[in-house]
Amino acid sequence: MKEHEKVYHLGTGKGYIEYTSGLNTRKSWELFQRAVKVIPGGASSHARCWSYLGVPYPINFVKGKGSKIWDADGNEYIDFCLAMGPLILGHGHPEIMKAVKDQLDRGLTMHAGTDELEVKVAEKIVQMCPHIDMVRFSNTGTEATLYAIRFARAYTGKDKIVLFEGHYHGWHDYVMVSNIGAPALGPPWSPYRIPSTWGIPEDVIKTVIVLPWNDLEVLEKTINRRADEIAAVISEPVMMNVGCIPPKDGYLQEMQKICQQNDIVFILDEVITGFRLAPGGATEYYGLQPDLITYGKALGGGFPVSAIAGKKEIMENVIPGKIFHAGTYDANPIAMAASLATLTVLSANNYEAYKRLNKLAEMLKEGLEEAIEKTRIKAIYQSVGAAGGQLYFTELKEIKDYRDFLKVNQQKYPRYQMELMKRGVYVRPLQASHEFISVAHTEEDIVKHISASIEAIEAIKESL
Ligand SMILES: Cc1ncc(COP(=O)(O)O)c(C=O)c1O
Repeated sequence: MKEHEKVYHLGTGKGYIEYTSGLNTRKSWELFQRAVKVIPGGASSHARCWSYLGVPYPINFVKGKGSKIWDADGNEYIDFCLAMGPLILGHGHPEIMKAVKDQLDRGLTMHAGTDELEVKVAEKIVQMCPHIDMVRFSNTGTEATLYAIRFARAYTGKDKIVLFEGHYHGWHDYVMVSNIGAPALGPPWSPYRIPSTWGIPEDVIKTVIVLPWNDLEVLEKTINRRADEIAAVISEPVMMNVGCIPPKDGYLQEMQKICQQNDIVFILDEVITGFRLAPGGATEYYGLQPDLITYGKALGGGFPVSAIAGKKEIMENVIPGKIFHAGTYDANPIAMAASLATLTVLSANNYEAYKRLNKLAEMLKEGLEEAIEKTRIKAIYQSVGAAGGQLYFTELKEIKDYRDFLKVNQQKYPRYQMELMKRGVYVRPLQASHEFISVAHTEEDIVKHISASIEAIEAIKESL
């Protein structure tokens, strides 16, 4: 028996579980054994603790180029995870690599003054997103939503925020409520506020009003009753953190209108959709004018950059003596160099990159829908252009909110993921995740994904 065909059990100390039969991932297993001894869960983000998601251990990826990644055992995969969104130009895009190397050669410049790169990125954002007047930079999407909520509270003088059941806006206390694995309790029109982690003070949870998404009537009624308390409504434009759920027609536009009419700041969280769904993100795609927008992920092309952007009347208050915003690494030149290179490539030749992203996304959608039909399994694929998409193993015809999502048997997806890995296609082993496409992907990559999906579904069909 060859080494990679041996199957042992995790925890015996003798060997490794094969990731799936025929795929040798021994080095990943070995690293995981070391990792769990010194890092709780074996990784420094819950999003990467695979052993809690229904697969035995995370894969140790060691190299990426274009649309491909390689693991420590030399297996090659087409990457549809893309570091959970940032790698819109794929792995190691030459323009980003050059910009970062050039910046490094100038020294690790943390001048603690204004940097021209920071101004150039802000100018580029305003050019790509004409609905934006001003921008401040941070490092992560979480920081961006934290600040946007602060800016809104400071601007309106009100405390409460409305957020939607199942939406994810990062890990800070104000938004870790009724999402990421929290059960959906209470009547659908008035969900209970469930903390999504240990450690959130009761008083913080009381500042949040949780509503069902895609339900205009409930939103209208709540705002009509409680407008004097509500500083902001924060929403993902496409509900990406339970796969991919599009907004109902006109829903976001109405949300914006009700906010405007009631002195409530409308915050659109474009951490995933920003610079991905269109040059001006979901804001452009849906024809919106949010008061504040948060960006992250694709904005940095793989480097830690986030932004809080929006209308002048709010943003001009983000100055010393008024609303506080700071951070040692905010707008650090390495990340800004990567960001400028990313945005420059994305906007080249009249935004040609988006035509490509949309074409590939459409091809994937059609292919996976055909795969579902051909294999006759109970599943659906939901997507919104280049924002991303997800295949759900469900009998439902549509997933339109968090409660629908919780009806999906989420145990099935990790099995599908493992079969895809075996066939050289990498997606995250999580039904709540989604598939991303980069500019580096090719039509051939998509064709391979579709045929791998058909085979993967056939392999697990009996147990579905
Ligand atoms: C919509 C949305 N907002 C905010 C965040 C938080 O971003 P980060 O992980 O960079 O803190 C995420 C992360 O996935 C997200 O999907």
